Amino acid sequence: MQFPNCTVVDHPLVKHKLTLMRRAETSTASFRALLQEISLLLAYEAFRDLKLREEEIQTPMAKMVAPVLEGKKLVLVAILRAGQGILDGMLQLVPSARVGHIGLYRDPETLAAVEYYYRVPGQLADRDVVVCDPMLATGNSAVAALSRLKRNKPGSVRFVCLLASPEGLMNLREHHPDVHVYTAAIDERLDEHGYIIPGLGDAGDRLFGTK
Ligand code: URA
Repeated sequence: MQFPNCTVVDHPLVKHKLTLMRRAETSTASFRALLQEISLLLAYEAFRDLKLREEEIQTPMAKMVAPVLEGKKLVLVAILRAGQGILDGMLQLVPSARVGHIGLYRDPETLAAVEYYYRVPGQLADRDVVVCDPMLATGNSAVAALSRLKRNKPGSVRFVCLLASPEGLMNLREHHPDVHVYTAAIDERLDEHGYIIPGLGDAGDRLFGTK
């Protein structure tokens, strides 16, 4: 199936690290480290079209005109709690980014997203915002987070996840066709509990060693 709203980051390092993360026997420490490493690679692709402007600088040898990022600092928004794992990796690449958090949990009966926390930097109007959550499963949390965020009128919004399901991508496309998704892989389907199959299990539990 084709998803025009999604870029699958096609790179041997991403594929290899994702396989290690999927393995049930991978330790919490390794899972955490791998998520950071992979997130950095996803961020590299997600930020590919950031606008540049020219600036005159002085190297130790000569003056030159060199490219620098145009516009205000990026804003990274983690959907709690597992989004924090992606955020940590992305911050290694863009350490000056501003950071927001959106707390959502999934109602186990309805699988609907319920908001319990919202704190993002002010004045998003001319900022590029990246929302992160490792698992785009039903897409309900992502849709709710993006709807809430758009009330603050961000300049642009992208979504970065580790794994996406076809159902989640379709849900996101229906509700937020302007938001492009960057992911390491699109898996087969969801199970009856809204988990991605084959997936990697509960990303939050594996990241924080809970359960
Ligand atoms: N959240 C997870 O952590 N894993 C899934 O498979 C789906 C949602």
